[in-house]
Amino acid sequence: MKRLALILTGLAILAACQHKPEAFSVIPMPNDVTLSEGTYAVAGKAFFLDPRMDNASSAAVWRFKKALETATGRESPLGKGELQFLVNPDLAAEQYTISVSADGVVVEASALNGFVYACETLKQMLPAAIYGGKKAKADWVLPCVRIADQPRFAYRGMHLDCSRHFWSVEETKRYIDIMTTYKLNRLHWHLTDDQGWRIEIKSYPRLTEVAAWRDGTCIGKDMESSDGIRYGGFYTQEQLREVVAYAAERGITVIPEVDLPGHMVAALAAYPELGCTGGPYKVWERWGIAKDILCAGNEAVFTFIEEVLAEVMDIFPSQYIHIGGDECFDPFDKEAVFPWDTCPKCAARMRRLGLPKGPEAKHQLQHYVTARVQQFVNSKGRNIIGWDEILDGDLAEGSAIMSWRGTEGGIKAAAKGFDAVMTPYNYAYFDYYQGSERDKEPLAIGGNLPLETVYSYEPLDGIAPGAEQHIRGVQANLWTEYIATPEHLYYMLLPRMCALSEIQWCKRDRKDYTRFDASLDHTFAILDQMGVNYSLDCRGLVGLDRKPARNAAELEEYLAKKDWEW
Ligand code: ACM
Ligand code: ZN
Repeated sequence: MKRLALILTGLAILAACQHKPEAFSVIPMPNDVTLSEGTYAVAGKAFFLDPRMDNASSAAVWRFKKALETATGRESPLGKGELQFLVNPDLAAEQYTISVSADGVVVEASALNGFVYACETLKQMLPAAIYGGKKAKADWVLPCVRIADQPRFAYRGMHLDCSRHFWSVEETKRYIDIMTTYKLNRLHWHLTDDQGWRIEIKSYPRLTEVAAWRDGTCIGKDMESSDGIRYGGFYTQEQLREVVAYAAERGITVIPEVDLPGHMVAALAAYPELGCTGGPYKVWERWGIAKDILCAGNEAVFTFIEEVLAEVMDIFPSQYIHIGGDECFDPFDKEAVFPWDTCPKCAARMRRLGLPKGPEAKHQLQHYVTARVQQFVNSKGRNIIGWDEILDGDLAEGSAIMSWRGTEGGIKAAAKGFDAVMTPYNYAYFDYYQGSERDKEPLAIGGNLPLETVYSYEPLDGIAPGAEQHIRGVQANLWTEYIATPEHLYYMLLPRMCALSEIQWCKRDRKDYTRFDASLDHTFAILDQMGVNYSLDCRGLVGLDRKPARNAAELEEYLAKKDWEW
């Protein structure tokens, strides 16, 4: 009897140790995956790095090696190893292949991004503890598989607003780490706005002495209120370069945005002579669309823009320089008179340009500003990208837009032969609520953008046949008016950014919400290891404190009573 019990216990232990490859839950799902029987144990195995590999690619593989060593607690020697990372010049820069067999692992790529993505795929195929940064007991095996993968879109962006609330260099690097995990390759950094200027500009010191600080922040949605607490911060040029380099090591280009000529109240507070009235102005403590913008009739404004952008381009090597261009004139305030309607200097400029009198003139004047800035940026060998308001102006070849007021801007840009990044508010604004039970969610700007809606977005819908190549990719935006802590930031970001990554990466026929939803449990385990918050709304747990969602009947009653406003 005792022997039988022993045998049974032994069999149970054996069964527990035998690795069953879990459902393949890599996000974004690679485009070609063939799983086979068997596994390969990776702990303590030697790495071989192709001597032709460039330094950045070697460093990326090295980071993977270190993470593996830390998590397994076993050293992986470098030399003639079973974990082979080979250069295959026939592959595109973002393409990679992985072959895992009982004999080892062979990774092929041609450049940094391919190697980064191969490592990220390998990490996601391993136990989540590889993300934990400490030794962990786990089944350190990879499933046998062949993967051939490359992204659908070249531009895979995520935006971060550090003006409304400021994120430290360390937090921004963590944001970049999360982007890397899901194979994004553009960080659109919204560095300036009415509520705070965040870039050190050496030729305009008051931008960081004055424009980087506000005397308070409005409380909730009461725009007349202020908490009276001084708030702000900025990045030194050295810190900005550090972030650019950190991102570049992970295959991510940082695109800086200097939003102009609107969203400039903070800068005006520092240099009031750049506004139409001369001020005084105060760094904004509230949210919304400010009437005060840069004066388009004053040559000193163009000097300011050029000197600022010259320093910006010196720090940021990105081909695109984002010049904003949104919301110069509040579209909801049809009756309003804006400073450009009454400013003598702007009027003189309008006359010199021969613009027809009337409410349209100010829009034409904005196009003039855009065209001048475009010319300057082009003269430095770069291209402008701007919000879709700039599309109605005279864009030069190589300029691009971000379609944010829906998809129409992108559709129109592509038809006109301009490149566009799709970032429509109704699928890609991660500052929106994500569940139906607002009273359990932290305060948000409005809207309703659940995970499944994000996932359902198809960027080429509506694009004229033959113009598809102008849709460079997709980006989601994370405005931070109502987001003040990292815990809340990641709650808004995740797992919606995971859904975004599949829109950006996966071929149309590879997307499958049921499969994606099933992969999320592994991604939640990864995020737990990374120490990053996320929403569990898709699992019926609502809000930062993850309260159980209402049942169907209660929800119906709640929704019937609710008068949702923005
Ligand atoms: C924007 O959301 N104002 C581009
Ligand atoms: Zn003016």
